[in-house]
Amino acid sequence: MKYKKKILCIGAGYVGGPTMAVIADNCPQYKVTVSDINKEKIKMWNSDVLPIYEPGLLEVVKRARGRNLFFSTEIDKNIIDADIIFVSVNTPTKTFGEGAGKTADLQYWEKTARNILKVSKSNKIIIEKSTLPVRTAAAMERILNSKNNSIHFEVISNPEFLAEGTAISDLENPDRVLIGSKETKEGLQARDEIVEIYANWIPREKILTSNIWSSELSKLVVNAFLAQRISSINSISALCEKTEADITEVSKAVGTDSRVGSKFLNPSVGFGGSCFKKDILNLVYICENYGLYEVAEFWENVVKINDFQQNRFVVNMIKSMFNTISDKKIVLLGFAFKANTGDTRESPAISISKKLIEEQANIVISDPKAIDNAKIDLKDFADKILYIEDPYEACVDAHAICIITEWDLYKDLDYEKIYKKMVKPSFIFDGRNILDHKKLFKIGYNVYPIGKTALTHFK
Ligand code: UDX
Ligand code: UDX
Repeated sequence: MKYKKKILCIGAGYVGGPTMAVIADNCPQYKVTVSDINKEKIKMWNSDVLPIYEPGLLEVVKRARGRNLFFSTEIDKNIIDADIIFVSVNTPTKTFGEGAGKTADLQYWEKTARNILKVSKSNKIIIEKSTLPVRTAAAMERILNSKNNSIHFEVISNPEFLAEGTAISDLENPDRVLIGSKETKEGLQARDEIVEIYANWIPREKILTSNIWSSELSKLVVNAFLAQRISSINSISALCEKTEADITEVSKAVGTDSRVGSKFLNPSVGFGGSCFKKDILNLVYICENYGLYEVAEFWENVVKINDFQQNRFVVNMIKSMFNTISDKKIVLLGFAFKANTGDTRESPAISISKKLIEEQANIVISDPKAIDNAKIDLKDFADKILYIEDPYEACVDAHAICIITEWDLYKDLDYEKIYKKMVKPSFIFDGRNILDHKKLFKIGYNVYPIGKTALTHFK
């Protein structure tokens, strides 16, 4: 079959895999290939057991795979063939040297760019899908166009806004798609080519175009704003617990102001995920670099409140359980950073588990999708943790249950049955406010929600 254009995506992770599957599904006239240095991952993308759990993803992959969607380990050959290359390799927070703990580690991006330069034989559009510090495109363009030959690479920024757990619907029906380019003739032409791809299924008015720096920066800023809302409501949840105000009522009263809006105002044990913390720290680092220290400090506090919220969850637990949790069995219901994903990157569950272990509690971790990742995250504490997927079995002889992830399954458990097998007095710490607290209290539990007065049987 003759394809209109050949697209390659380098990086078959949480972003590259689903994004390319949806593009291929909606654009049968394009050949879409996804490559990754991880051979095992590519093998899984070619099977019925995909390397990531995402509702609806397998159906989309199955529709397009073998038709115009291909997963391949032959990166160089596919670079040569491609007209358009999306780069979706990871850009984690740098752990060493200048900017450690804040700025993005661009080594994989740069290596990928150098490899594209080395093997290419024709002009290509290179798309930044990975989240990058603003002005990275300039550095990339310098690398890509450093060889003295006639091949031209046009760098485009097309950040991803999908959220895990809802990736397929976010990709199929996004609030907007953002495409940034240089405002030169070649830049605008390349921008139009990318608009044309998305226009196959997304209404034209939802496809925003901008200059390349606005696009790069917008991605960081959206995540910073979203995280800031969560830290705002979480900071107020701490005040609610001291004042008998109820965070659900406050959140509703605040969120119904149409200028504020109601989304992303759910209090929690803290936000997790691979993006929020990394992107804010990146923003902080950029501001510091430009001498904007007050701006940097403003955003850094969003991360500080998130650390505070995770820490205070454990401190509340210790205080409520008579100032010691040593040798007590504590069950974590949920380990993923949010429901409907097996992803545990930056999950509050990690820091909470470590703090509980420090306090010498015996912890049991339960989760329908994330146990394998949890075992990797906590491999240094393997002898101190039990992993039990069945929540009923996990809770036998427990002193306390903590809800860490808002999986639907935890809303409907038979808490009466669980209570009968727990040590008394029994405690529930609902880190997501998903349970019926009054009902649990009636069963006999001492109930500690987030941002609400605790319901206890103690005089
Ligand atoms: C990544 C970035 O982390 C994020 O900043 C960006 O917004 C989107 O892309 P994600 O897809 O969640 O996010 O990362 P991950 O699941 O780790 O996937 C990256 C993939 O790139 C991995 O499969 C890795 O093997 C691959 N990779 C990495 C390469 O193929 N080549 C490399 O040189 C480095
Ligand atoms: C986020 C952005 O939403 C997405 O646009 C971007 O592309 C990547 O980063 P993701 O991290 O997958 O997506 O999930 P998201 O739904 O944003 O949740 C992030 C964290 O915030 C989770 O730990 C979630 O539980 C928490 N959260 C979310 C809250 O604590 N309260 C809320 O009201 C909403």
